[in-house]
Amino acid sequence: MHAISSSLLLSTALLCGAGAWAQTTPSAADLAKASGCYSCHANGEKIVGPAFASIAEKYASDKDAAASLAQSIQNGSKGKWGRIAMPPHASLSSAELKTLASWVMTVK
Ligand code: HEC
Repeated sequence: MHAISSSLLLSTALLCGAGAWAQTTPSAADLAKASGCYSCHANGEKIVGPAFASIAEKYASDKDAAASLAQSIQNGSKGKWGRIAMPPHASLSSAELKTLASWVMTVK
């Protein structure tokens, strides 16, 4: 009896933990969708801009990548990937830029 109720408690705790995780993980991707990033980017293939996974791979060993990518997103970027430039995204807040840039670094 005692064993059953404690395993119920444990699974409730696990479910709550999973819920919190599920809420934070899609929100950066949702922000990318809402910000129009996916009209030029995809996670795994080049469209107009490079695949997010390729960006993460290119900067994998750069510990300042998130900060410099936030700058690229905010001010636009050209000449790093090809001949097409990314326009600036001036309306994103610095928190949004940080969220997007760190998220890009996690795309596989
Ligand atoms: C109009 C098309 C377009 C849109 C919209 C766009 N991008 Fe880009 N993005 C590009 C292109 C093209 C490049 C490659 C630029 C270059 O060669 O320097 C790029 C490059 C990048 C890079 C790499 C920059 C670097 O320093 O290497 C990141 C990160 C990025 N985009 C994220 C985003 C995010 C996040 C959004 C949404 C807020 C977004 N992009 C919206 C076209 C776009």
